[in-house]
Amino acid sequence: LNTKIKIWDLPIRLFHWLLPVLLGFSWYTAEIRAIDWHLRSGYTLMFLIIFRIIWGFCGSETARFANFVRGAKAVIDYLRIQPDAKPSFAGHNPLAGWSVIFMLVALTLQVLTGLFAVDVDGIDSGPLSLWVSFDTGRTIAELHEWCFNLLLLITVTHLLAIAWYEVWKKERLVIAMISGFKRLPEGSKPGLSLNLRRLTFAVIISIGIVYLVSTGLQI
Ligand code: HEM
Repeated sequence: LNTKIKIWDLPIRLFHWLLPVLLGFSWYTAEIRAIDWHLRSGYTLMFLIIFRIIWGFCGSETARFANFVRGAKAVIDYLRIQPDAKPSFAGHNPLAGWSVIFMLVALTLQVLTGLFAVDVDGIDSGPLSLWVSFDTGRTIAELHEWCFNLLLLITVTHLLAIAWYEVWKKERLVIAMISGFKRLPEGSKPGLSLNLRRLTFAVIISIGIVYLVSTGLQI
């Protein structure tokens, strides 16, 4: 493991570390019923998720879904070579790839339900709540709370998985997600390149969608 290789670009790292911050902030602002801050936090999360999905198609190599979403055989083969295998992935391994998809789906559900959620008095509601009846909005609000518990469970599982790699397999994943660099065997090829035009495109489209949704799609 003698070459240090850049495996995560800056957008992926920013996306990643803003997730725990914003999830914590969203939870807190919901608890103290600071709904305007809860909405701002939700819109930022929505921006991040839309951005991450677009980046999954046009981002740098390790961000692309096509490069880490693998079939059942690849996952089984990967599990079979465990636990002796040395760290060798310049990106997500086949199992981690599916956990990324799972986490993104759960985060998307969290944001989507928030958009349609209606509060008990019908006042503190999501921007798209006008499109559903009061009762449907209330049911969606309950789903929104339920989904947060699911996200907590997913986060705990995520942290246990990372700890497993860090402690038992001595794979330095957390440092890699902070600095972008990972120590890998000689000859590993991540092929990381940050394309600023695509980055600008992804950011503008994501902001545009969040803006449209925040107006309640009434314009
Ligand atoms: C402070 C706690 C956290 C730590 C230490 C942590 C650590 C990591 C690490 C090391 C990776 C890279 C895994 C790999 O190499 O395959 C990763 C990926 C990821 N984590 Fe976390 N994580 C934390 C919190 C969270 C939270 C709260 C979420 C949201 C539910 C989350 C969602 C993700 C996602 C979606 C990825 C994939 C990154 C991408 O390709 O976009 N993480 N995390």
